[in-house]
Amino acid sequence: MQLILDTGNLKEIQELSTILDIDGVTTNPTIVAKEKKNFVDLIKEIGEIIGDETPIHAQVISTSYEDIIEEATFISGLRENIYVKIPVTHDGLRAIKELKNKGIKITATAIFTAHQGFLAAKAGADYVAPYVNRLDNISADGVGTVKDLIQIIDRYGLSTKVLAASFKNTQQVIELMKAGVHSVTVPYDIAKAMMDHPLTDWSVDKFIQDWEAVYGVGTNTKG
Ligand code: E4P
Repeated sequence: MQLILDTGNLKEIQELSTILDIDGVTTNPTIVAKEKKNFVDLIKEIGEIIGDETPIHAQVISTSYEDIIEEATFISGLRENIYVKIPVTHDGLRAIKELKNKGIKITATAIFTAHQGFLAAKAGADYVAPYVNRLDNISADGVGTVKDLIQIIDRYGLSTKVLAASFKNTQQVIELMKAGVHSVTVPYDIAKAMMDHPLTDWSVDKFIQDWEAVYGVGTNTKG
């Protein structure tokens, strides 16, 4: 199961990638715009933090087939390990098929139904990114939709990975992990919420207190 960070903020990426074993960083135009930086510079700076081995998923802005092909080709040349994110519009699906033939790595994005995910996988996408919380927000079943997609991809033995995205709470993440999701991309606050528990801090404080009551300040190595 891959854990990916859904942020373009360098401080957040630096902090979390130091602590956690991460499998990549995803951005989208909204995430990039928040940083108010040049897109190419930002991708390079993210790459310097996470290293050449760890992938970045970066999205096209273009909407027409021809422009998507041109922009995706440009993005794929920014670094070795990059997946070009393409929304699954008609032009997007058509472009995914063509770009796959050219050997460009693709993450199909803005997926809201299992059908869309299946069609993007069939077109050759390496990852398909369904948006969990955006579905939940309109009274649809985000987690259920992604579960269906995982089942379809696995049942037909497709090599595409489901990269669940758009999370607003850790429960959505855990439900999909239990269902065998191949990868999740989580924003900073969700990653922190997955890491932290007040009882962990309380327990550590208590261990130290009990130790120091008998042995005084110090560690095992310092006697
Ligand atoms: C993936 O990178 C998606 O673009 C992202 O998870 C969408 O998240 P949001 O619905 O919180 O904007």
